[in-house]
Amino acid sequence: MGQTWLTGIKMSTKAVRSRVMNSEYMKWAKTGAREKYNLAVSGVAPYPLSELPVKIEDLEINGPSAYGYQPLQNALAAKCGVETNCVVAAIGTSFANFLVMAATIEAGDEVLIEQPVYDPLSSIAGYLRAEIKRFRRDAANGFQIDLRDLEHAITSRTRLIVLTNLHNPSNAYTDEETLRQIGEIARSVGARVLVDEVYLEAMFERAPRSSFHLGHEFVVTASLTKAYGLSGLRCGWILAEPDLAKKLWGLVDITIGIPAHPAELLSVVALANLGQVAKRSRALLETNRALLDRFLDQRDDLTAHQPGVGTVVFPHLKSGKVDELCDLLREKYETSIVPGRFFEMSEHFRLGYAGAPEMFGAGIERLGWALDEMSV
Ligand SMILES: Cc1ncc(COP(=O)(O)O)c(C=O)c1O
Repeated sequence: MGQTWLTGIKMSTKAVRSRVMNSEYMKWAKTGAREKYNLAVSGVAPYPLSELPVKIEDLEINGPSAYGYQPLQNALAAKCGVETNCVVAAIGTSFANFLVMAATIEAGDEVLIEQPVYDPLSSIAGYLRAEIKRFRRDAANGFQIDLRDLEHAITSRTRLIVLTNLHNPSNAYTDEETLRQIGEIARSVGARVLVDEVYLEAMFERAPRSSFHLGHEFVVTASLTKAYGLSGLRCGWILAEPDLAKKLWGLVDITIGIPAHPAELLSVVALANLGQVAKRSRALLETNRALLDRFLDQRDDLTAHQPGVGTVVFPHLKSGKVDELCDLLREKYETSIVPGRFFEMSEHFRLGYAGAPEMFGAGIERLGWALDEMSV
């Protein structure tokens, strides 16, 4: 779809040498997507603290957190079906990703990163001065991972393969068999596979087991942010084999030091009540998904893989410019979507459907008006 792929091509020497120090996408997400009808967000609408069974007396400022707060370590290990020595608590999936890359790659190491990608993942690799190579997820193939492309790109210098499941931005699901093959490709050169599973949580009872269970080369990151509306807890985690987990705790020592204990206490409560939290998310997503399906069925100007699970969709705008659509939406209709250029696919846009249903319904209606206006 008019996309220039960089597959298997190393970024320029200049790009390799100069340290990446920020993410244009994150800056935009924090400051540029503030419209009343915000369809740019990918996480479920905030879960209210008042609905968690917790009282102020249950909280404390300081507590016994050293290498994790034991009740939280235990709750995360139980949720993920792993031993506690494989769990490293982190500040959201964001810092979990940073820690994993910092622990597994050194300057000049090759890293294979999916394309399109959630920008911070490639920015972290750029910050660490890795040599970044890409493997494609082609829109025409439902954004599935092309294993031949991956095999073609990997070399004996590859230390890490990076992917998201569900894929951000397309929401594509990678099945266990494909993941297993990716593990084999990685193992053949002694590399690891980082799977960011933050959106896998949004499959709820339909979620398969974590790819962590597929072998020692898999390192998984996730959090309670996207599926549960609990972003503010910053309850993230890494699943890693015990030796790597020890190394990761060493990096925690020289970065976070000690986590915020009130957040740890609240996270334990949230995990104990995750069924109730998930029920509300599922209901919200089902309502919005029905609206989204109806909307997409009616639009001849968009091509999209309609999601049965997850929180986002990544439509292709068949004609016209996505940036113009974004401007029109913002200026006239108080609505934000994510321009595809942030995912290196300027003919697409990402639409999140996990906001409050009234807001989402009004926002998608406005998107329809803007698309109609563009086609006249
Ligand atoms: C793939 C991916 N990983 C991580 C994050 C950030 O997650 P967290 O809020 O847990 O730090 C996002 C947020 O958009 C994301 O899309």
